[in-house]
Amino acid sequence: MSFTQYKPVKTRVQRSELAVPGSNPQMFEKALNSEVDFIFLDLEDAVAPNDKVTARENIIKALKEMPWRERGKTMSVRINGLDTHWMYRDVVDVVEQAGEHLDTILIPKVGVPGDVYMVEAMVAQIREAKAIPNEIGLEALIETTLGMANVEAIAAARNLEALHFGVADFSASRRSRTVVIGGLNPDYPGDQWHAAIDRMVTACRAYGLRAIDGPFGDFSSPEDYVKAAKRAAVLGCEGKWAIHPSQIALANDVFSPPPAEVDRARRVLVALDEAAAQGKGAASLDGRLIDAASARMAQNIVMVADAIAEKSKANAKAA
Ligand code: GLV
Ligand code: MG
Repeated sequence: MSFTQYKPVKTRVQRSELAVPGSNPQMFEKALNSEVDFIFLDLEDAVAPNDKVTARENIIKALKEMPWRERGKTMSVRINGLDTHWMYRDVVDVVEQAGEHLDTILIPKVGVPGDVYMVEAMVAQIREAKAIPNEIGLEALIETTLGMANVEAIAAARNLEALHFGVADFSASRRSRTVVIGGLNPDYPGDQWHAAIDRMVTACRAYGLRAIDGPFGDFSSPEDYVKAAKRAAVLGCEGKWAIHPSQIALANDVFSPPPAEVDRARRVLVALDEAAAQGKGAASLDGRLIDAASARMAQNIVMVADAIAEKSKANAKAA
């Protein structure tokens, strides 16, 4: 293990993340009452240019007036991109007026580390000027070829806590042939998103960030959503977007470690503790060799399971 180590920057349960357009306040109540872990209220691509200002006002009002945190929701706002003239006012108005109700800001189309730095500087100044007590984390969407080409440098940016893979814009940026957003093109013998998600996840984990998979467009196909979510989970993502409420339970299920896996992880840790007490570094469990690397994998599973259990307890208390 290197002497240079990046611990997880911030642990949050983010199995499912519901995208809710700020221009559709009639969807807010349903989002509030859903079982979703994270919500991003959107100011970017789901909002038409003429609705940007109203969407901002809707979001500020909703953050201030609706009991998101009491219902166990982690709240994020997706601002407009740095290449638009809406972005600065998104940050200023939302953070000044509703910063204390906000957990993270999701920055779209991040291409270089400086994009994150700009938002970080603005948020820090506004927090100080307005005496906003809570931290506001930053999350970045990797969804352009420039962003993917720089993903390792972006992942090292300060104050960032997660990267998301935005497969729709990424397809547009690299001119991939896409049949369904986030789905597979049968012309490709395998998973054409593998390399991109894999690279992003490695960059995330190297710097202690959460890795989140983005949208799956065909909400009439839960089977294909689950397949996409499982592919992402196998690669190390810890959650996936829901662009429709029907996808929330699917994501929560795929990204919760199954009870049998949690049980085995706990048994691995016990078996290795017992082996250590006898001066041994390795042991055998169910006929398989386990060692310190097995313990690290098991600790990851137990940590996620404990965080989910903690969250469910808090939600049950609030209900
Ligand atoms: C998300 O924003 C995407 O482009 O997939
Ligand atoms: Mg996008």
